[in-house]
Amino acid sequence: MSEKTFIPLSVPNFSGNEKEYVNDAVVSEWVSTGGSLVPKFEQAIADYVGMPRAVACNSGTSGLHLAMMMAGIGAGDEVLAPTLTFIAAVNPIRYAGAQPIFIGCDDTLCLDPKLAEEYLQANAELKDGRCVSRVTGAHIKAIVVVHVFGNLADMEAIMDLAARWHLIVIEDATEALGSCFTAGRYAGKYAGTIGDVGVYSFNGNKIITTGAGGMVVSNHDDWAEHAKHLSTQAKADELHFVHDEVGYNYRLTNLQAALGLAQLEQLEGFIAYKNEMYEFYRERLDGKHNYRILPFRDGTRSNRWFYSLFVEDAHPLHRDEIIRRLSAEKIQTRPIWALIQDQADYPQNQHYGTGLARHYLGHIVNLPCSTNLSKEDAQRVVDVLLSL
Ligand SMILES: Cc1ncc(COP(=O)(O)O)c(C=O)c1O
Repeated sequence: MSEKTFIPLSVPNFSGNEKEYVNDAVVSEWVSTGGSLVPKFEQAIADYVGMPRAVACNSGTSGLHLAMMMAGIGAGDEVLAPTLTFIAAVNPIRYAGAQPIFIGCDDTLCLDPKLAEEYLQANAELKDGRCVSRVTGAHIKAIVVVHVFGNLADMEAIMDLAARWHLIVIEDATEALGSCFTAGRYAGKYAGTIGDVGVYSFNGNKIITTGAGGMVVSNHDDWAEHAKHLSTQAKADELHFVHDEVGYNYRLTNLQAALGLAQLEQLEGFIAYKNEMYEFYRERLDGKHNYRILPFRDGTRSNRWFYSLFVEDAHPLHRDEIIRRLSAEKIQTRPIWALIQDQADYPQNQHYGTGLARHYLGHIVNLPCSTNLSKEDAQRVVDVLLSL
């Protein structure tokens, strides 16, 4: 019998012009943060998501840190944030010296604006146009929403909440490049382009990758300019090394931008394939053998970056045992994140309405979803799951 091949969870797909563009960048000797490809990649992303400009940075995490600084979040401020997400969505709040308040999710796994409203009604008031905590006296200045696994958060309700409570909206769209609304108030709008600032990631497991990298967009021109300034060491006078703020070395490199340009050419094809393979799993697993495939929000075109298999309590095996058995068959899957409110020193922070998030985190398995996953390999995943 032939050896079974390893089926990874999510790996890059370099089947386009990657080698040619990266080679051109190497030959040109523009490999660092200078060079023409960085602005070219910025404009290509801006055009794709329908924004006037985008600012490239060296990771989604640095992009989120820039977003905090663009929004003027600082020491003593508080920020509403999801508890069910990757911790990089929240740590930048701390980098800025502020404190997160953790809010639970709805059935899309994204932050539930109804829970945020309940929290604010019970614990905050508007004073001189500022949302002030009755618990700590701090200014609750912003809300971070994550479009989890490419599923769009309920942006109509979030923008209404933000308007009522005078909150800045920071969209963590690191997982959602290409997801957009197809109905409602924001029809035609892409993830990341609705709030005050949006951030994308090009990490190796994302729908397109530059190895590591990120991009920031904003509905305030001066915020985008500030992001570029901060990401390039805040140079006020480049020739004479004059810096007017504490800046960062957060800029994307020309080599990475070369990779990004080639990847972006394929993004719509990747999304189409993600959708096809999502349907493949859904047809074979949803409602079968105590499994569900979690849906994406109605009225959206999602990039369907990650697929979530929900294992019902009636399944004979615990979720972790299912992951172990798949791994024994050389199939890589993963559980969803542990709640952030339980990690690092975040247990000291406030949290509200996080029961549903805790329920989901105990039951979800993320299935292999690479854009080069073959139907034969996906069928192997299905066959193992149905045999358990
Ligand atoms: C929700 C979320 N936020 C932030 C990040 C950070 O992005 P990066 O890995 O590019 O720093 C990621 C991905 O890694 C993520 O999934």
